[in-house]
Amino acid sequence: MTTYRIAPSILSADFARLGEEVRTVVASGADIIHFDVMDNHYVPNLTIGPLVCQAIRPHVQVPIDVHLMVKPVDRLIPDFAKAGADIITFHPEASEHIDRTLQLIRDNGCKAGLVFNPGSPLHFLDHVMDKIDIILIMSVNPGFGGQSFIPQALTKIAAARRLIDDSGRDIMLEVDGGIKIDNIGAAARAGADTFVAGSAIFGQKDYKAVIDAMRVQLAQQAAQ
Ligand code: DX5
Ligand code: ZN
Repeated sequence: MTTYRIAPSILSADFARLGEEVRTVVASGADIIHFDVMDNHYVPNLTIGPLVCQAIRPHVQVPIDVHLMVKPVDRLIPDFAKAGADIITFHPEASEHIDRTLQLIRDNGCKAGLVFNPGSPLHFLDHVMDKIDIILIMSVNPGFGGQSFIPQALTKIAAARRLIDDSGRDIMLEVDGGIKIDNIGAAARAGADTFVAGSAIFGQKDYKAVIDAMRVQLAQQAAQ
């Protein structure tokens, strides 16, 4: 049976109370903390770096999933690994040498993965599947929280699921952008197993109520 994981994105958290926010969301049932890094170059927004990752690390035991929306990529990888990242993903268009960057992430002791924008083809995976621990499908264009889910992402999730199953490898399939209680089931049905949600969780009063409701949708999916 599929193990489903919910990964709240701290992009929508209260940054003035970040330690408390991540503790609360993990106590509410989060499996992973999703950490969005934006550089005002690869994407038109500027967020947080390794110092913030290091600051939240002692507050939670769950994996920290660092989503790099930066260009260039490589220089930041050792810094995030030292800061306590468990998973590091990057956009293939942002690295000149995808194979090298994936290897660099693994050499620094983290799980490695590629992220696909809505308009980006999956063929970047063709020759590197053996270095991939996670595939992240964007269901919004990266740069901002609170955008609407792009339904075409479901087709790409299904295509990525087929690639993973054909490879026979243990690779996580994550979806990021506009995930809510009412569409998480469709994403799971398409083949995703890990669900990033920012505004749907941190934007709300009761994190546990949202995460529980998401799990109900996932359980229904699993039972079908
Ligand atoms: C977008 C980020 C997402 C975003 C998700 O560039 O990668 O992780 O924070 O936020 P919501 O769930 O609000 O779309
Ligand atoms: Zn993200």
